[in-house]
Amino acid sequence: MKSSPWWKQATIYQIYPRSFFDSNGDGEGDLPGIISKLEYVKELGVDAIWLSPFYTSPNKDGGYDVADPRDVDPRFGNLDDAKKLIQVAHSLGLKVIVDVVPNHFSDQHIWFQQALKAKKGSAERARFHFYDANEDGTPPNNWISLFGGPSWTQVEDGQYYLHLFDSSQPDLNWDNPEVASDYEVTLRFWLDLGVDGFRIDVAHGLVKENLLTNHPDPQGISDALRLDVSMDPEIRYALLPTVPYFDRQGVHEIYRKWRKLFDSYKDRDIMAVAEAWVHPPINSTRYVRSDELHQVFNFDLLDAPFKSDFLYEVVNRSIELMDSVGALPTWALSNHDSPRVASRIGEVQARALALFVLALPGSCYVFAGQELGLPDGEIPDSSRQDPIYIRTKGAQKGRDGARVPLPWNGDTAPFGFTTGKPWLPLTDKWKELTVEKQSVDPKSTLNLFRTALKLRADHLIDQGSITWLESPEHGSKSDSLLAVRRGNVSIYMNLSDSAAEVEITGKLLIVSAGIVDSRDGKVTIPPVSTIWVHH
Ligand code: NOJ
Repeated sequence: MKSSPWWKQATIYQIYPRSFFDSNGDGEGDLPGIISKLEYVKELGVDAIWLSPFYTSPNKDGGYDVADPRDVDPRFGNLDDAKKLIQVAHSLGLKVIVDVVPNHFSDQHIWFQQALKAKKGSAERARFHFYDANEDGTPPNNWISLFGGPSWTQVEDGQYYLHLFDSSQPDLNWDNPEVASDYEVTLRFWLDLGVDGFRIDVAHGLVKENLLTNHPDPQGISDALRLDVSMDPEIRYALLPTVPYFDRQGVHEIYRKWRKLFDSYKDRDIMAVAEAWVHPPINSTRYVRSDELHQVFNFDLLDAPFKSDFLYEVVNRSIELMDSVGALPTWALSNHDSPRVASRIGEVQARALALFVLALPGSCYVFAGQELGLPDGEIPDSSRQDPIYIRTKGAQKGRDGARVPLPWNGDTAPFGFTTGKPWLPLTDKWKELTVEKQSVDPKSTLNLFRTALKLRADHLIDQGSITWLESPEHGSKSDSLLAVRRGNVSIYMNLSDSAAEVEITGKLLIVSAGIVDSRDGKVTIPPVSTIWVHH
């Protein structure tokens, strides 16, 4: 059964184009490569693909440094390939979501090149945030880039421009109507080409406040924003709302206008999902008010430990929060910015958690390779490309590990990904993880996903919300068990290293690992495993 509108409970498969499949032997994935594997994606059972950027870009930040948002980078193909991709995906019943990056352009974008040549105070500079240096020559304020180092770079005539990310990613000035109207042209461009939605990069960052004021604790906010820096939660949660460049009220005006634009494409059910890291969590609901966007990413599971109390809290809160604005949550265990879930919590744990999450109401995002149980790549420092690694001079390893190419077939790296030299190395250890091997192994992670997605479509979509059966707050027998009921299905996740016995009757639909023993109304759930039981 299909949910309506299509995106509400969709499973969306994130493709990082550079790492998916290389059709021309240059070592990098490309659009024709993706087209050739769309049957595989369809067979997986997902509803839509989300493509990370493939636009013209010098590729200083994996394509999130866009030099022309209305064209395809030659490394990935051309506009005809993009059109064909959309058309083939649609013919297979897959929706297509593209990434848009409205917070910044690449310094190679024509506008920034013009701004560099233009004078202080010119219309060309007003498209970005250019300001004079302080009297002592220092930048206009003390903000730190999210990629390390100052968030200002000086140009020849002494002015500075703002870049929250790499110095090659100048932030756009969204107070300038020219910026807003140019972006509408970009949105219409892709909608007219047939895409079904957008993933909005740094959706919470477009509007800045206090641009000429120092923050009292710039290092503090910079650390508070990083998932890999451990910090007393109280300190973190006190700092986050003070970040002057994120989650300002003004961003919502922008999305109200965008929503009108989307809705003007009648009968198309255009959707947009916001990448908005905000705090407190209630603020995320503002992005999905009925006149704004459709979904907002929920990042809580990206760094969640495999612990029942933590997971219970996240799942419960996410559903309740979104319910308060009539929206449904989204779920993601991995993406191109964070360590892959199999590396972070373990392979069997990742299977158990994925099977639990796939049963929940809302939309599930699956990062390509997650369906193979792929861990992070083993990347030697000499091969690292992430600007985070470069700007911090190696102090932070960056995100290349998660972005490693997919292993398709054969017994040695690069496993059919390319006939050339892959842009990031794959390891021979992945011999058993290839699509080819996993396709024929009924117990593989790939077949677990395929079966789960089919069962989700048959039994869970459109079933409304969950009722907790076992949780730290619902009289759980053990603190290693989480269980919910949704429609006619009960979902149990046993987080412990020992088997757990529960009293349930019904038909076992699926188990994430191990063998389920069932007799006399009692079911034994294997260690670190999730089961779905149909009543
Ligand atoms: C979020 C994207 O997911 C990330 O990959 C990128 O580096 C930053 N935004 C900047 O665009």
